[in-house]
Amino acid sequence: MGKMIRLFVRVRSKRPPQLPLDMPAFQEFQRIAPDEFVIPFFCSNINELLTRLQDVLEGEIIETWVEPLQLLEGESKSLHGDITLSDSLRLSTTFSFGSGKHPTTRLCIDLLKEVLTHRNIKTLFDIGTGSGILALFALSLGVEKVLAADIDFNSCKEALMNVVNNSYQEKIIIVQANHLVGKRNSFDLITANLLKDTIIKMLPEFPLLLKKEGLGIISGLTEEQLGHIDFQSFGLLLQLLKTESGWAAGLVQKLG
Ligand SMILES: C[S@@+](CC[C@H](N)C(=O)[O-])C[C@H]1O[C@@H](n2cnc3c(N)ncnc32)[C@H](O)[C@@H]1O
Repeated sequence: MGKMIRLFVRVRSKRPPQLPLDMPAFQEFQRIAPDEFVIPFFCSNINELLTRLQDVLEGEIIETWVEPLQLLEGESKSLHGDITLSDSLRLSTTFSFGSGKHPTTRLCIDLLKEVLTHRNIKTLFDIGTGSGILALFALSLGVEKVLAADIDFNSCKEALMNVVNNSYQEKIIIVQANHLVGKRNSFDLITANLLKDTIIKMLPEFPLLLKKEGLGIISGLTEEQLGHIDFQSFGLLLQLLKTESGWAAGLVQKLG
C-alpha cells in the first residue's frame, strides 16, 4: 500500500457547515473566522484529491497542509460468502463498523442492489461510512463518484485502507465530518446506517443534499422506530421497506 495522508483543507464559504466542533474527534476542526473552517480529508494522492474537491465542497480552498498517517494493522478478508456481495471486494474491519455481518448493513446492501439495478445512480453520499463497505459495494456496481463521511478518525483511516486495497481511490473522497459537509443538490443517492437520533437530526437535510428525485437508504433503526417516522414531513416518500431480525431499513425518495 502507498502513503496514506490526512489532508487539512481550509475553506472559505458563505454557507459554512455546522460541524460538530464540540466533539473530541473534531478538536482539530478549528473555525478560523465566521466563514472559514478546516476539514480533514483522507487520501493517498493529494493532487488527485484536490482536483476533485470542488465537486463536493461549497466555497473556496484557501490553504492546505498534510499529516502522514500510520498504517493500521487490520486483517483484510474477502467478503464473498459473508454476504453475497462481490467475489472481488476485500475489507478490513478491525477499527470500524461494517463487516457486512450486521443486519443493518445487510439491509442496506439489499436495498443498494435493488436501487443500482433499476436506477442510474452516478453520485453517492455515504454518511457514517465506517469500513467503507456500502461505498465500496456501490462502486463495484458502477457508481461513479462517492463522498464518504465519518466522524470517527479510525473509521476514516480504515475506510481509506479498504478503498486503496480495492483500487477505488480515484472515485471516492473520504472526509472526517458529518452530513453537513456535503454540497447541496449534488447526490443521486444517500446511504445512512446510523442511530435513530442521528438519522432524525439529518433527515431535514436529505432533500437539500439530493438532486431531483434523488433517493435515500436509511438503516440502523428498529421496525418500530422506523414506523414512527413521518417521512413526508421531511419532504421524503417511503418507497420500500425491508426488515430483518427486528431491524428495518427504508428506501426514500425526495418529493417534488
Ligand atoms: C452503524 S455504523 C455503519 C457503518 C457502515 N456504513 C455499515 O453500514 O455497516 C455507523 C457509523 O457512523 C459514524 N457516525 C456516527 N454519527 C455520525 C455522524 N453524525 N456523521 C457521520 N458519521 C457518523 C460512526 O462513527 C460509525 O462509523
